[in-house]
Parts: sequence; structure tokens; C-alpha cells
Amino acid sequence: MTDARSVFGGGVLAVTGGGSGVGEGLARYGASLGMKVAIADIDMEAARAVADDLVASGTDAIAVHTDVRDAGSVDAFFATVYDTLGPVTLAINNAGVEQFGYLWEVPAEDWQRVLDINVTGVFNGVRSVVPRMAEAGIPAHIWNLSSIGGIGAAPRQAPYIVSKHSTLALTECLKLEVEAAGYDITVAAVLPGPVVSRIFERAGGDSEAGALEREAMFKVGESAMPALEAAERIFAQAADGAFYLSTHPEMTGYLMNGRAEQLRAQSAPQLPVEA
Ligand SMILES: NC(=O)c1ccc[n+]([C@@H]2O[C@H](COP(=O)([O-])OP(=O)(O)OC[C@H]3O[C@@H](n4cnc5c(N)ncnc54)[C@H](O)[C@@H]3O)[C@@H](O)[C@H]2O)c1
Repeated sequence: MTDARSVFGGGVLAVTGGGSGVGEGLARYGASLGMKVAIADIDMEAARAVADDLVASGTDAIAVHTDVRDAGSVDAFFATVYDTLGPVTLAINNAGVEQFGYLWEVPAEDWQRVLDINVTGVFNGVRSVVPRMAEAGIPAHIWNLSSIGGIGAAPRQAPYIVSKHSTLALTECLKLEVEAAGYDITVAAVLPGPVVSRIFERAGGDSEAGALEREAMFKVGESAMPALEAAERIFAQAADGAFYLSTHPEMTGYLMNGRAEQLRAQSAPQLPVEA
């Protein structure tokens, strides 16, 4: 097992949505490895609280108000990071939101919001940081947040599931493209299982089906993994060179095997028994 500190220590971590949950855990764990940290978030109060806390414990950290839906805003974030902290060695496109309810009940603006943040937000990060990493010419990493929801299908969260399948596909294509272009950039897809965060309380979707799903997800959240432990697992796998970074490897493996078997047999998706 490679020590994450030897791979990532001394570098610059830039994370979108780093003011809460998974992104905050990754920011704090990166700081504990000796990285400088830049936090982009639409919630500036949350981003500043995390950055201030890191600065107080001796980390070089900044918070930058960013809306990942806006390419210019994301580009301004990375420009600030390169100017103030130096070349980014780990960019994490993490900001994301949830949506509950049946597809036909989802307001058009909520569908758009999920895709704009969860998919276009990741694209905006990639298109801004890859040329900067290539120009800096030092080894660098890009992690994009998919989810265990990016592996299979599930009812009553379709916009989210669609966005996480999309992000996984984007990340797989990106891995091939940086190789084809000859860049020294290591690309990985993060597929968390349940991690303590605020994603469900902020989720859209108040229909009857949406409320049922929200309740079910809050139940799942009761046994969620602390974000710092999730980050430690993600960093350890990345240091070992894994492409799929998982917080709950058994759950991820079970779902991947189920998906592989479904595609191999060309069988239709099935509702889980309790659905
Ligand atoms: N928590 C889990 O169990 C879990 C599981 C699988 C995947 N994920 C993924 O992890 C990522 C982080 O989610 P989380 O669970 O930590 O949620 P969270 O709500 O706790 O944190 C998300 C952060 O993103 C920020 N954000 C939202 N919209 C933004 C925008 N337009 N621009 C910039 N920042 C924005 C929020 O302000 C917040 O700080 C998401 O991509 C999510 O899909 C989480």
C-alpha cells in the first residue's frame, strides 16, 4: 500500500463544493497530508468556515465563491488558485445536488439544476484545469464525483442517477483523452456510498413519491460514514493507483457485479424487492 502523503503531500488541492460533506472531508484530509487547499463553493459562509479552520491549524487555505454551473466562475476559481497557491496537483470536481420523485413529477428547472451542477459543473472544472495542468508540466490528478448511484438504475432519483452515470462516462472518457494527449494527469472516478453530508436535506422533490424517497434516504443516512473516514479511504486507493475510488468497496463491488451480469445477460433492470 502506497502512503497517500508521499503521493499527495506538498501539493495543491482544489475542490468544488468543499464547504460541506464529502468535499469538506477531502479538503480536511488533504490538509492533514500537508497539501495547500482551495475551496470553491456557492455557499461562501460554509467555504470560508472550512478554510478559516484549516488556516488556524497551519494550512495554506483559501475559499473562493464559485458557481460550478458557470464556466467563467469556475475558470476564475482556478485562475485564483494558480495565482495564490501555485499549480494544482489534485483537482476534485465534487459539487453536487440530489432530486427525489418520479421523473414525470420533476419540475423542468429542477431537472436542469441537477444536470447543470452535477454534469456541466464537472465539465466546467475539466475544461478549465486540464490546460493549466498540462502547461504546468508536473504530475497531477483529477477526481470527479460520481456515486454508487452511477452504477445501476433506481426509481425516484432519476435526475441524480442520470447525472452520476454521465459523470462516470465523462471521467472514463477523460482518462482515455489525457492518455491520448500524452499528459501526466491521473484521472479517477469517486463512487461514494453513504457518507455524512447535507445532500438529502438540500435535495429537491416534494411530491408524495419524492417524500417517500427522501425518508428512505434519511434512514440510509443514519448509518452513513463520517466524511473524514471516507476521504482517508479515497486517498488511500488513489495513492495505490485505483481508477474507481470507493468509500464502501463491498457495496460498490456488489453493484458493479450486478450491473455487469445484467448487461452480460441483456436482462431488463429489476426493482429491488422493497421498492
Ligand atoms: N453524501 C453521500 O452519501 C454521497 C454519496 C455518493 C456521492 N456523493 C456525491 O458527493 C458530492 C458532494 O455531495 P455531499 O453529499 O457532500 O453534499 P453536501 O450538500 O453536503 O455538499 C455539497 C456542496 O456543494 C455545494 N454546491 C451546491 N451547488 C453548488 C454550485 N452550483 N456551485 C458550487 N458549489 C455548489 C454546496 O453548497 C455544498 O457545500 C456530490 O457530487 C454527491 O453526488 C455523495
